[in-house]
Amino acid sequence: MIPTDHHPPDCLTTRDGRLFIEDCDTVALVEEFGSPIFAFSERQITENYTRFRDAFAAGWEHGPVDVMPAMKANTILAIRRLLTNLGAGADLYSPEELEGALRTGVDPERTSANGGGKSREHLRRCIEAGVRITVEDLHEIDWIQEEAAALGATARIRLRVKPALPNLWRRTDFSQLWVPIDLGVQVYKSGIPPEYLVDLGRKAFAAPNVELVGLHFHAGRHHPSLWFWQGMMVRFARLVGELCRAWDGWKPQEIDIGGGMASRRDPHNKEFGRWEFLLTAAGYPFLVGLRGLGEQVYHTLLGKIVNALREYPDPRGVPTIEQYAATITGTLSRELQAQGVALDGVRLQTEPGRSLYGDTAVHLSKVKVVKEQTQPIPYTWVLLDTTYFFLAGGVYEKNRHPYLVANKADEPADLLADIVGHSCYADQIVLGAKLPRVEPGDVMAILEAGAYQESSASNFNALPRPATVLVRGDRAELIKRSETIDEIYGRDIVPARLGEQGAGA
Ligand SMILES: Cc1ncc(COP(=O)(O)O)c(C=O)c1O
Repeated sequence: MIPTDHHPPDCLTTRDGRLFIEDCDTVALVEEFGSPIFAFSERQITENYTRFRDAFAAGWEHGPVDVMPAMKANTILAIRRLLTNLGAGADLYSPEELEGALRTGVDPERTSANGGGKSREHLRRCIEAGVRITVEDLHEIDWIQEEAAALGATARIRLRVKPALPNLWRRTDFSQLWVPIDLGVQVYKSGIPPEYLVDLGRKAFAAPNVELVGLHFHAGRHHPSLWFWQGMMVRFARLVGELCRAWDGWKPQEIDIGGGMASRRDPHNKEFGRWEFLLTAAGYPFLVGLRGLGEQVYHTLLGKIVNALREYPDPRGVPTIEQYAATITGTLSRELQAQGVALDGVRLQTEPGRSLYGDTAVHLSKVKVVKEQTQPIPYTWVLLDTTYFFLAGGVYEKNRHPYLVANKADEPADLLADIVGHSCYADQIVLGAKLPRVEPGDVMAILEAGAYQESSASNFNALPRPATVLVRGDRAELIKRSETIDEIYGRDIVPARLGEQGAGA
């Protein structure tokens, strides 16, 4: 397992060569609930939430703190209910996420409806429910005013801002290319550009049924370092100060710093690692040029290069939740005060996604086939009974997930193989994994699978999306069952003129 020494212990341990989540043997979970499955730890979710809450509260003496986990990262209602019971708010994107969160009884006062392109119906529902609206589009305030007036209500809104960040010059993790963070943030669609903010605020002040209560900034997971978070907060605070002055001493009631912090074993955007060399302008002519050495030498060298590049350097360390919270609260306090922004009573809000859910789950599946070739280049694949379509959010973000053979956790890893899924795509779940000698029936655990994977799973090849269990101590219970064949085809409509369903069978 990848060490994360400076973090407190998490829900995963190995005992007698087997991977446990809390006190449940993951191999036994697969036997009981089937393969593949997602297994979440209730203790880890609770602990992560509590650590966020306590660490932010410890650093922010000016007012209350709200932890508002991003629902997009995890839409499972049992988990949302657990968070609601703990007192968590929510960051919500779609009307459907809003409905899901409301069904768990979330406090609307600590709930933010985010995102561009909100419909009037969605805005109306937010106002009715008393949910904060985080404004993204320029026309939104007009619509909010009209809807709120029709309901005889006051809509509480925040503006989602996008400050310039020329201080963030390091390479963003969001791109495989060498793109500086500030450019990465600027080309991301979300956030209102600074040029509109002053007028938009004045429009909100003039709207009788609208109250501008705060400002919000989320840029995504560009860099895990404290340097990055400090730089983000310096520029955010500067913009808040400028707006407060432009708005005649307006004072925010709440400041929301969004999400974007890396999770403990940070799998984000590491798919290529050393492979990047082969993708460069230098790598391509090198590979083509090698052919000049004759077919046999070419294949021998190619095999060696490919296998050498498939090994991955150890991942970069990720700060703890406490270090992250101390950097955010310390920098914001200092910089906002330097900007002359009065902070007494100001509510600080954070919307963790991956950093709250990421290490709370493993994805478990069985090895189906081990396939080896020696010619023309040596290569090995370990094919699982799952697919990267069940880890889709991670695929989109080019994750390289940590992994472990759950029933051979202590065995030496001397096999270099790609861990692949059983869909008909290349389905590369982990490139260049170092594994013990695996065989069909072994259980593979993909770690750091609690954020974005389950919520973005799709069923390519008509594969049924897997079940999810929630582990608590030595017990596990089903919180989402796997999809049935009827559900997979449940939205299909075969017009009668094409024949009865099943008639062709
Ligand atoms: C507005 C907002 N808040 C929070 C998050 C959570 O981000 P992360 O999972 O990187 O913490 C997102 C993710 O896109 C978001 O758009």
